[in-house]
Amino acid sequence: MLTCIKNNAYPVRIMILALFCLSLFCSYAFAVDTCIDCHQDDKFRVQNKRLFDYYNDWKDSVHNLAGVSCSDCHGGNPLKSDKIAAHKDNFSSLSHMDSTVYRKIPDMCGKCHESELSNFRQSKHYKSLFDKGTGPHCVTCHGSMNVEVYYTSVIVRTCQSCHNEYTENMPEVAGEADKVLHRINVSRAFKNWSSLHYSEKEPEKVREINDLYQDVAESWHTFNFEQLDEKSMNLLNMSKTLVNRGLAEKRESRENK
Ligand code: HEC
Ligand code: HEC
Ligand code: HEC
Ligand code: HEC
Ligand code: HEC
Repeated sequence: MLTCIKNNAYPVRIMILALFCLSLFCSYAFAVDTCIDCHQDDKFRVQNKRLFDYYNDWKDSVHNLAGVSCSDCHGGNPLKSDKIAAHKDNFSSLSHMDSTVYRKIPDMCGKCHESELSNFRQSKHYKSLFDKGTGPHCVTCHGSMNVEVYYTSVIVRTCQSCHNEYTENMPEVAGEADKVLHRINVSRAFKNWSSLHYSEKEPEKVREINDLYQDVAESWHTFNFEQLDEKSMNLLNMSKTLVNRGLAEKRESRENK
């Protein structure tokens, strides 16, 4: 018997290895997530169109690509295949028909987006969301199931939905947001260009620009426009100076050839 195994040791080992790989593959490919298993069912297309659309919005999202699933935001139990058991302690904006449900959103998103949350906590938006329920929260500006960092023009319209002549709540902030966001966008392009062409020649300068960019992008969520105005102007000037110098040097070296 022993010798038999010994003689056949090679194929047996291969088989054990193959089984091991298969089990690894299975646990990876078929990781249990009952939320998705049930919600993706095509029958909802007719039975519950709204439910079907929510699922499909998530399916096309960055979050799906990044492996963020329903239960990461909604809670519940993604190991139970029974609907009621799975939905236990689930977040749903339908279960409270008042605005308090939206106060839960910053913490829900902030579990993973910590710096955005900690900056947002310093803002008047956060305070008025909690005190009066009137401030915007993460989903107001990014959507929920199919999150996006929208184009500047779309964001400015979002600001205007609350900040306008009729509400008399600082109608001018939309224009300020437009200005700052454009500076950030242009600086992002300059920053990328500098990283590409100057990382070796001037690592200090490139690092300084990258750090300042990071700082401005993160402090956006404080909505403190006095600071943002100054910081974003510095960022734009610093990154533009390096790019202009780079372009001039390139032109010179071309002319000298
Ligand atoms: C066996 C199927 C099934 C499972 C498992 C399931 N759901 Fe649902 N879910 C539904 C159906 C059907 C609805 C529509 C409302 C209803 O019938 O209760 C729904 C509704 C919802 C809603 C909207 C609330 C509402 O009342 O309409 C949310 C949010 C939700 N599910 C999240 C989840 C999450 C998160 C999980 C996993 C932890 C999950 N679901 C697991 C079938 C399921
Ligand atoms: C990034 C966090 C996040 C993820 C991931 C996510 N949701 Fe949601 N979902 C929300 C938020 C916030 C709302 C409430 C705001 C709204 O209606 O847009 C919501 C709303 C819903 C609703 C509408 C009813 C309600 O509770 O307001 C359904 C149904 C739903 N989600 C199901 C799902 C399912 C199913 C998945 C996974 C396939 C999923 N969600 C993934 C954050 C998320
Ligand atoms: C379980 C962790 C997790 C939760 C909870 C979560 N996110 Fe995310 N989010 C990620 C990851 C991972 C990415 C993709 C990588 C990245 O850009 O950081 C991402 C990306 C994003 C982006 C960038 C999209 C882009 O196009 O660049 C936005 C905006 C965003 N999330 C908003 C939200 C909002 C709003 C909520 C709450 C409703 C939320 N997230 C909840 C992990 C999470
Ligand atoms: C009033 C609108 C508004 C609110 C509220 C808001 N954001 Fe943003 N968020 C933006 C804008 C505009 C940008 C793009 C800023 C930029 O270009 O740097 C952004 C950028 C982001 C990014 C992408 C950052 C990156 O590195 O590209 C994430 C993630 C994010 N927000 C998450 C959140 C979370 C989480 C909350 C709630 C705690 C939140 N946001 C609240 C408007 C908002
Ligand atoms: C859902 C409504 C809503 C939206 C959308 C909204 N805000 Fe506000 N905003 C408020 C409220 C409410 C206050 C607090 C007013 C008060 O208490 O004086 C506020 C206050 C502010 C302040 C003053 C902060 C301070 O420290 O004094 C600024 C700046 C601001 N918002 C900018 C923006 C920008 C930029 C956008 C778009 C990216 C935006 N808001 C979108 C409701 C909104």
